[in-house]
Amino acid sequence: MAVTISNLAQHFTPIAVRSVEKTTEDCVLVSFDVPDEKKQDFRFSAGQHLTLRREIGGEEVRRSYSICSAPGSGNWQVAIKQIPEGVFSRFANQELRSGDVLDVMQPHGNFTLEPCTEKAAVYVGFAAGSGITPLISHIQDKLEQEPSAHFVLFYASQTASSIILKEELEGLKNRYLSRFEPYFFLTREERDIEFYNGRIDLEKLEHISKYILDLPSVDHFLLCGPEDMIFMIRDFLQVRGVEEKRIHFELFVSNAALQNKTKVRRVEAESGVGTEVTVREGGKNFRFRMGRNSESVLEAALRYNSGLPFACKGGVCCTCRAKLIEGKVEMHVNYALEKEELEAGYILTCQAVPLTETITVDFDQ
Ligand code: FES
Repeated sequence: MAVTISNLAQHFTPIAVRSVEKTTEDCVLVSFDVPDEKKQDFRFSAGQHLTLRREIGGEEVRRSYSICSAPGSGNWQVAIKQIPEGVFSRFANQELRSGDVLDVMQPHGNFTLEPCTEKAAVYVGFAAGSGITPLISHIQDKLEQEPSAHFVLFYASQTASSIILKEELEGLKNRYLSRFEPYFFLTREERDIEFYNGRIDLEKLEHISKYILDLPSVDHFLLCGPEDMIFMIRDFLQVRGVEEKRIHFELFVSNAALQNKTKVRRVEAESGVGTEVTVREGGKNFRFRMGRNSESVLEAALRYNSGLPFACKGGVCCTCRAKLIEGKVEMHVNYALEKEELEAGYILTCQAVPLTETITVDFDQ
């Protein structure tokens, strides 16, 4: 995959909200009014996300949400599902109104695919809950741009009324009758056909690979949802011979990153060694010292420059990407950078801890 992110562009722009519509009981579809002069900067590929920023209760809160509209549609839409304890999602679902202004970062993210022009491509998506949001952008994009493409979707929701973007998915089914094949699973409602009940598990995958999909003929698998589901599907596919390059995934929560925070704090207590860090951002350098093998480079750097780009702090969204110019670091997790980016020296600063006496990272490259 091509490296598509320019960190130079990763700054916030105030953008007005065009509309906030309920799509389910606990999920809103938020559309943005990107001004004409910013439309070029805000162009996006299917699978990318927007990072939003807002002060809520006196604190700055940032969250990334996948764009669920199609590239080239002239719409910038994200679906925000209210989650327990979710500060931003509660605000969006209960308080956000059309005309409000949010700080929005230009679209970014690596859950993208090059168009397939030489053949009638077959795409397969697996999603759970709000994991449908980047996939619906891919579905619209592939079916629109590739007239012979076929898309099969397996999507698990709790109940029929909690299916996010249900009307849009039904609209796509009607429009692309022979090319879009969606399967909906419900985890908290029973239907007559047993196959459609319950989460996507190994039993369902066995059934799907036996009766619905011919795995070798699928060009790309796109997975989006919770970590355990994604890794279960990825492992299932790999064991059956699907090469890594055909499996693409986007995590919505990174448990591994949270667990690593405990480990990091313990190491910090044991280590007295420090690192001299040079950070280049916005054409300027700043320097500071931090403990080696302790907190992440991003956390330490934010104390000196709160304008650095970040969103998830979990190794997922890629917003904090920077190029390592000098020295060595270790990343706890990396769910965002492609192999080519790693080879080119890019790191996720939210996951990187220094290993050498000096390091230099450049957010401008
Ligand atoms: S802030 Fe999301 S990967 Fe670092």
